[in-house]
Amino acid sequence: MSQKQTFDNVLSLIREKINSETNRDSSLQFISDTLKEKIDHYDWVGFYLVEGENDLVLGPYAGEPTVHTRIKFGSGICGQAAETKKIFIVQDVSKELNYLSCSPTVKSEIVLPIMKSGNVVGELDIDSHTISPFSDEDKEFLVRICSMVGKYF
Ligand code: SME
Repeated sequence: MSQKQTFDNVLSLIREKINSETNRDSSLQFISDTLKEKIDHYDWVGFYLVEGENDLVLGPYAGEPTVHTRIKFGSGICGQAAETKKIFIVQDVSKELNYLSCSPTVKSEIVLPIMKSGNVVGELDIDSHTISPFSDEDKEFLVRICSMVGKYF
């Protein structure tokens, strides 16, 4: 199956879940599990939820437990994405100075803010064990998921 077909199939599964699921955590858990299982280069998938003015708190995730359960805005890749409201793609984490390491096996990371009414309400964070795995297609695919998830906030 081509990567485009895989992305299309996964989007259908996720769309169906979001349309039928009212519980935010169940839906975010399903999305984390599905992305990790179906996309080879996604090795850790999770959501951070904004708490108060300045904190990201770990929500549902799939993969190894992480020590980074609470991250300040500005800190690490997640904190930078929250502060700037921008998507961060780091194709080689060894070159990123403002980085919070979860495991030496992680080589690259993509973080997408989840926006609601102009504010960051959460983030989708994906780690990969491969260097430079994230393409424009990954970005487009994940942007669509983040926009669908907005309904839970
Ligand atoms: N590497 C992230 C921390 C979170 S973990 O990847 C799960 C960062 O630099 O913000």
